[in-house]
Amino acid sequence: MRGRWMKHKERLAEYAGMVEAGLDRLLPLDGLRQDQVMEAMRYSALGGGKRLRGAFMLEFCRISGGDVQAALPYACAIEMIHAYSLIHDDLPCMDNDDMRRGKPSCHRAFDEATALLAGDGLLNRAFETAVSEEAAGRLDAARVLRLTRELAGAAGFYGMIGGQCIDLAYDGRMPDLATLNELIALKTGALIRVACRMGCIAAGASEAQIAAADTFAARLGLAFQIRDDMLDVEGDASVLGKATHADERQGKTTYPALLGMEACRQEVDRLTGEAVEALDQFADREFLTELAWSLTSRLK
Ligand code: IPE
Ligand code: IPE
Ligand code: MG
Ligand code: MG
Ligand code: MG
Repeated sequence: MRGRWMKHKERLAEYAGMVEAGLDRLLPLDGLRQDQVMEAMRYSALGGGKRLRGAFMLEFCRISGGDVQAALPYACAIEMIHAYSLIHDDLPCMDNDDMRRGKPSCHRAFDEATALLAGDGLLNRAFETAVSEEAAGRLDAARVLRLTRELAGAAGFYGMIGGQCIDLAYDGRMPDLATLNELIALKTGALIRVACRMGCIAAGASEAQIAAADTFAARLGLAFQIRDDMLDVEGDASVLGKATHADERQGKTTYPALLGMEACRQEVDRLTGEAVEALDQFADREFLTELAWSLTSRLK
């Protein structure tokens, strides 16, 4: 794959296929008594999703000169954590959403207790994967430690979970723009940032490159969530694979609610421009540049 320029859609599809096959192998149904939870884990982790976080990790690894196959278990671990966050995000006690990735959300397809355990199962399986012999055997111990530490931090209370806490705390109350930015930086930005950082770390990239990947991801993560909020207002549920007007129903304050749609469009473009500028640290940045701009007008 190295050295061959592919249109971003083809390369994204290739990365998505690698992640899908990796997840399928890492989440085996093994005939145990509690197989229903593994079925629910597979239901939510497989067969859907854009795989952007996995793709970001693999591409930053590739453009930093690393071994993409060695990075793959970590890309799968990030996607497991993302899938778990979506299962729990959809629960009645959180966003109470019935559709996800074009099918009934996990608690609708199974039941709430199964969805809760499936989320927990995916979270733990992610860390089991990160320190597994298969993953850790291909990278030196210091890199494995740093990858796992960064993943734990980004997923946890000081990362994604913390963002979900602020999101819930402001249900029905209006945060100011600074609070909204902090909320988004954590609930959405943390996992996107760590995906990009981990790609660099797996490859042994310089601290300057890790910092550049971080800046790219922080800007892109904010743009990504603004676009998500815009699609909640003007998207097509059948394309999006999840309900629209859910934020309004939930009384969530979003960028469109605070600024209006036109200002959101400009903000997404401005942030994406800043994200792409940060890629100057990398010689081979065509895929990420094209992918980042494609996300500004995504419909799902
Ligand atoms: C959905 O993320 C949750 C947000 C952070 C907005 P994605 O839009 O990346 O979801 P999938 O993985 O493609 O389903
Ligand atoms: C979700 O944000 C972020 C997570 C950490 C799961 P949203 O609640 O806006 O995501 P969707 O719209 O349900 O995908
Ligand atoms: Mg939510
Ligand atoms: Mg939600
Ligand atoms: Mg949303």
